[in-house]
Amino acid sequence: MILRPLAAAVAALSVCGADGRSFLRRDLASRVETETEIAFQGVLDNLGPDGSKAPGAEPGIIVASPSTEDPNYFYTWTRDASLTFKMIVDEFLHGKSELQPIIQDYLKAQAILQTVSNPSGALSSGRGLGEPKFYVNETRFNGNWGRPQRDGPALRATALITYGNWLLDSGDEDEARDQVWPVVQNDLNYVAQYWNDTTFDLWEEVLGSSFFTTAAQHRSLIEGIAFGQALDQDVSAYESQAPNILCHLQTYWNGEYVVANVGIQQQRSGVDANTVLASIATFDPEATCDDALFQPCSARALANLKVYVDSFRETYTLNRNANGTAAATGRYAEDVYYGGNPWYLTTLAVAEQIYDAIQTWSSLNSLTITDLDLPFWQDFYPSAAVGTYTPGDDGTSTFTKLVDAALAYADAFVSIALKYTPASGALAEQYSRENGTAVSARDLTWSYASFVTMRAARLSATTDYPQVPSWGAPSGDEVPEGACVASSVIGTYSPATGAGAPPGSGGCTVLVTFNVNASTFFGENIYLSGSSVDLGEWRTGDALAMSASGYTDARPLWSAEVELPANSSVVYHYLRNEPDGSWLYETTNRTLDVPVCGNMVGGSNATVEDAWVGPVGTPPSKLV
Ligand SMILES: *[C@@H]1O[C@H](CO)[C@@H](O)[C@H](O)[C@H]1NC(C)=O
Ligand SMILES: *[C@@H]1O[C@H](CO)[C@@H](O)[C@H](O)[C@H]1NC(C)=O
Ligand SMILES: *[C@@H]1O[C@H](CO)[C@@H](O)[C@H](O)[C@H]1NC(C)=O
Ligand SMILES: *[C@@H]1O[C@H](CO)[C@@H](O)[C@H](O)[C@H]1NC(C)=O
Ligand SMILES: *[C@@H]1O[C@H](CO)[C@@H](O)[C@H](O)[C@H]1NC(C)=O
Ligand SMILES: *[C@@H]1O[C@H](CO)[C@@H](O)[C@H](O)[C@H]1NC(C)=O
Ligand SMILES: *[C@@H]1O[C@H](CO)[C@@H](O)[C@H](O)[C@H]1NC(C)=O
Repeated sequence: MILRPLAAAVAALSVCGADGRSFLRRDLASRVETETEIAFQGVLDNLGPDGSKAPGAEPGIIVASPSTEDPNYFYTWTRDASLTFKMIVDEFLHGKSELQPIIQDYLKAQAILQTVSNPSGALSSGRGLGEPKFYVNETRFNGNWGRPQRDGPALRATALITYGNWLLDSGDEDEARDQVWPVVQNDLNYVAQYWNDTTFDLWEEVLGSSFFTTAAQHRSLIEGIAFGQALDQDVSAYESQAPNILCHLQTYWNGEYVVANVGIQQQRSGVDANTVLASIATFDPEATCDDALFQPCSARALANLKVYVDSFRETYTLNRNANGTAAATGRYAEDVYYGGNPWYLTTLAVAEQIYDAIQTWSSLNSLTITDLDLPFWQDFYPSAAVGTYTPGDDGTSTFTKLVDAALAYADAFVSIALKYTPASGALAEQYSRENGTAVSARDLTWSYASFVTMRAARLSATTDYPQVPSWGAPSGDEVPEGACVASSVIGTYSPATGAGAPPGSGGCTVLVTFNVNASTFFGENIYLSGSSVDLGEWRTGDALAMSASGYTDARPLWSAEVELPANSSVVYHYLRNEPDGSWLYETTNRTLDVPVCGNMVGGSNATVEDAWVGPVGTPPSKLV
């Protein structure tokens, strides 16, 4: 590992700095180390089977938060777990060899979860891989939710490929091929097949296209191509789709900032931490500052960061008088969830993006300010000007001063997160926009993981601490010319038994559309319940919510799509959920014989047409 020249320059500044900044920097560094230990332990506490705050979690399962009410986060989310395990794999690569058993637990847990059919679908069609969350005992969650969320498989592939590449480098090709690849392959096939379909975003609120999701998908295919090739696997689907995803990625840029969600119904500015999190999740220390990949040091990503941070300056009381300096930041300014507060992980992400950028300028020995990102620089270095800067020999060059100012700016975001961290070091999800006290879920795993990745990025920017591995980011001139192509490659999906998926799982399924005519009034909803695990085994609480999106005056249609095992038989009925929470049950049970699997690529379909059979239970005057 070469010592990056800037790291040496900054280190020198820290030792002999004359302006008091070096003292602050050393003080911050030690507070960061203290909190990192707490944060890392916070992650382990939320990890099954032995984590002190994760009772009942299976081995390798990350609980999002131990909070079981207000809010209940006692589930495992594929996204949160993947980002957390990417952090754990990186720490493992940085010398924490004792983490290997939990990485292997994670691999096995994910192989199992891939086979668990769920409301998004099943493994045989791939659809089930887009399910956002499961119970921590590795069973399906049937509740109403924003699904699918198509970033999960991509992020999981990235975490596991990083580990798989280490196995390859260590000469453990068999384990990489027999255990890691089968899980990764399902996820990459999913990306290649479904990247161009709508998705819920990482905040589980908006259905459309999400920058974070598209960026994560692109990265996963690029590194999946190299990993698959090293194992002599067929990667042609990934090669065909990666350029189309990269093309699509460009469409989120509006000339001023990255619009987080496109193709959506809601009216939003699109200024959102989604984009900052995407930039750090796709950071490649060997990439340049090209705009096409929105790398942390790119003019686009820095211009976007300025717009993003500014959006909270007037929004939060905490940020009063913070113009031009670091600020508390949250998901997006319009946010109202738990009062719409700053989040630890988003505030830390701002710092991490800048630390990542410093690593690249340092490696390149060059830093270019353009008209686009000039406002970013002028916030904390008012005399910044457009130009290209390189380090001088004596540590007094404009390059060094700019980078040093950027470092101080990044540190100030960390200081804000630390200022509003309680003395215990516990990191919740949010901190109050009014007074900085912890809000919403306690001990959020993702908050802890974000602290650890921020700290690693800071060390890599300021010392010779190893950088995260490159993922082989292509250079910007590989963006396809001309119109983007809507496309998909239909994949095949098999249980990763080599990694621990149950043998015989992942059998062929049929996508059944249940249509039922049921007149309802506003606030009354129809559910589907039945004998099989997919239909909640008659438990009312596990009934599937149906959709009224096709409901018209002419036809009171409620629908649900469920993937059911082929050649099986289920008994089912419909339920009405009243505004007061009570339930009305149909006075009949119906039987469905699910057809055998067809030979159609991509699965088989069937539709049932039903009409509600009493009790109606509500006066006709309430019908709309
Ligand atoms: C799994 O956990 C859920 C939620 O706690 C619980 O309702 C369910 O019974 C558990 N399933 C099994 C098989 O233990
Ligand atoms: C599918 O791809 C086309 C071409 O890139 C794009 O215009 C469209 O928005 C994409 N749709 C989704 C949902 O990704
Ligand atoms: C701070 O900046 C915001 C926008 O970035 C602006 O609307 C506001 O007037 C500024 N406040 C002060 C006190 O300068
Ligand atoms: C802090 O502000 C929140 C609202 O964001 C409020 O609910 C809470 O009571 C306040 N706490 C203190 C200690 O002032
Ligand atoms: C369907 O199931 C029946 C009985 O379980 C079995 O005899 C038959 O072979 C199955 N058909 C197919 C096509 O799998
Ligand atoms: C339908 O079957 C379930 C489960 O056996 C049972 O609880 C329910 O009473 C049945 N409904 C009718 C109308 O028979
Ligand atoms: C549902 O309603 C539509 C429109 O009124 C009708 O054509 C159809 O036959 C109904 N389906 C059933 C199963 O009653």
